[in-house]
Amino acid sequence: MSDMGLHNELAATVMARCDLLAMLSEEEGRLTRRSFTPALRRANDQVAIWMRAAGMDVREDAIGSLVGHYPADRSGASTLLLGSHLDSVRDAGRYDGPLGVLVGLAAVERLHHAGSRLPFAVDLAAFADEEGVRFGAACLGSAVAAGRPLDPALLALQDADGITLDEAIRAFGGNPALLAAAARRPTDLLGYVEVHIEQGPLLEAQGQPLGVVTAIQGATRATLRFEGTAGHAGTVPMELRRDALCAAAELVLAVEAVARATPGLVATVGQLSVHPGASNVIPGAASLSLDLRHPDDTTHLAAVAALRVRAEQIAAGRAVGLTWDQRPSGAAVPMAPALRERLARAVVAAGHTPVELSSGAGHDAGVMARVTDSAMLFVRCAGGVSHNPAEAVDVADVAAAIAALGHFIDVLAAA
Ligand code: HGY
Ligand code: MN
Ligand code: MN
Repeated sequence: MSDMGLHNELAATVMARCDLLAMLSEEEGRLTRRSFTPALRRANDQVAIWMRAAGMDVREDAIGSLVGHYPADRSGASTLLLGSHLDSVRDAGRYDGPLGVLVGLAAVERLHHAGSRLPFAVDLAAFADEEGVRFGAACLGSAVAAGRPLDPALLALQDADGITLDEAIRAFGGNPALLAAAARRPTDLLGYVEVHIEQGPLLEAQGQPLGVVTAIQGATRATLRFEGTAGHAGTVPMELRRDALCAAAELVLAVEAVARATPGLVATVGQLSVHPGASNVIPGAASLSLDLRHPDDTTHLAAVAALRVRAEQIAAGRAVGLTWDQRPSGAAVPMAPALRERLARAVVAAGHTPVELSSGAGHDAGVMARVTDSAMLFVRCAGGVSHNPAEAVDVADVAAAIAALGHFIDVLAAA
């Protein structure tokens, strides 16, 4: 079979597998597969079957990341780590995460079909909890792999049902006490490469199937809570109210205003909950999420500070309380120039023109880059739509990604 024929066949399998994984959901009729849930258990177990069929040894590490290992042709060899994630946002698309895991698997299947062993091992990780939807902390699996100790307070985070992260990891089969031991040794790694849908419109606008990521922009996630006074909707005069939802609403528009006024800044309030949440009760409390990103760290952090001041002004002006619970801000992370160069040459060898672009979305590669050379290959997605069930890729672009990743690995093996 020609190389192109093989790539097309592998791409068709990737698409079919994405469709199959899309049915492994917590919810009827839409794809929601949060971390450490039975749906993710089914997804890990299904991908493990495919990994074993590709000649990989398979394990899960202490936080539940699935790791396939394709041995080298010698002992003591270094490892090229490929990966992405299988957990999803709510009402998700089927390619954000799984495409990267399955294109990585296709690259290993290509080696296995040819009976090839390389001078290095190839590991493939489906990292636990990249999206951070259930507990509000993202990229936990890659953080563990990168040897970044999880703040003990994170393990006490509770999901909407009051289950702690610690309990969820244990129920999934992991062991929070062994997270430190699950770290990859940087000296063992040749590097980390992640294939992912672009989740933006640039590749489509440029008419190219593949992009090579220059850097992943910095991000801040925070949870805010305004505390006012619940009261009777029919008896409390407007001037005597401490309405927490009105304070939150004022801040939501302030978030949008700051982002619109700052070139390159994106800021989103994706979650808002009102307490006690009855139509005839003045909201006593309102909680909201804040997601704020910018390619330049100084601008990013200045915007976070400005919004915090604005939130405090709103709270004071309405005589309501404010709590601001912020995860440590993630700085922008450059991808490794040498790997970027290799990836770009591999895209050319696959017959395409590599587009260089930064990533507005966060990825496990942004965490792995702190311990090993990391690079990302983006795949065009229809309309740049993502975090949405309309997410779509073209099978020919998936074949191009498989070809490029294959060239990348072949050249690395010959180096
Ligand atoms: O939110 C993000 O940027 C990624 O999809 N986790
Ligand atoms: Mn995502
Ligand atoms: Mn993703």
